[in-house]
Amino acid sequence: MRIEILQSIHHKKDFDCGQEDLNRFLKQYASQHQKSGTSKTYVALDSKDQVLGFYCLSSTSISFEIIDEALTKRLPRYPLPSVVIGRFAVNLTAQGKGIGKYLLAHALRQVSKVSQLVGVNFVVIHAKDQKAAAFYQRFGFIELSSRPLTLIYPVHQIPT
Ligand SMILES: CC(C)(COP(=O)(O)OP(=O)(O)OC[C@H]1O[C@@H](n2cnc3c(N)ncnc32)[C@H](O)[C@@H]1OP(=O)(O)O)[C@@H](O)C(=O)NCCC(=O)NCCS
Repeated sequence: MRIEILQSIHHKKDFDCGQEDLNRFLKQYASQHQKSGTSKTYVALDSKDQVLGFYCLSSTSISFEIIDEALTKRLPRYPLPSVVIGRFAVNLTAQGKGIGKYLLAHALRQVSKVSQLVGVNFVVIHAKDQKAAAFYQRFGFIELSSRPLTLIYPVHQIPT
């Protein structure tokens, strides 16, 4: 398995993660958003270029006020520069095999690279539900007490 930025040669028409909005995003909008510069989509591929999973990244900012105090020590009281993992899903037939974990580690590495060139304080995820939130929490994301289902990860804690 390998991870690449989404290209037209990748096969995505059979992708099904069990959630129609995420399937539709990959099939209908991901390429368009990529071309317009709104988000970049990364896909996990098998040897036949079938998409096994994907995530996308965009820049965002997060209000200082909504973040728990323990995470904002030494940070300015401004909207804090962040990267949002906008969509995240693994094909039903490939779930439970470590692909989600691999994609998430890849996403954090990409953000770490960006943070060497541009200021970034946090990785942000808006989880769809508590089950998805539990997945991200397992890998160190912290749910904001002021915004249930919004989770953040401090960029300085990304393993190098
Ligand atoms: C959530 C999702 C991305 C996880 O992907 P996956 O490839 O099945 O997960 P992995 O196999 O990499 O799991 C890695 C670890 O996380 C654990 N895990 C998986 N789902 C979990 C969950 N919901 N809560 C807590 N832990 C979870 C696994 O048991 C595994 O543990 P291990 O390392 O001890 O073996 C996948 O289930 C999915 O696409 N769901 C539907 C779409 C969705 O909900 N996306 C999130 C939108 S915000």
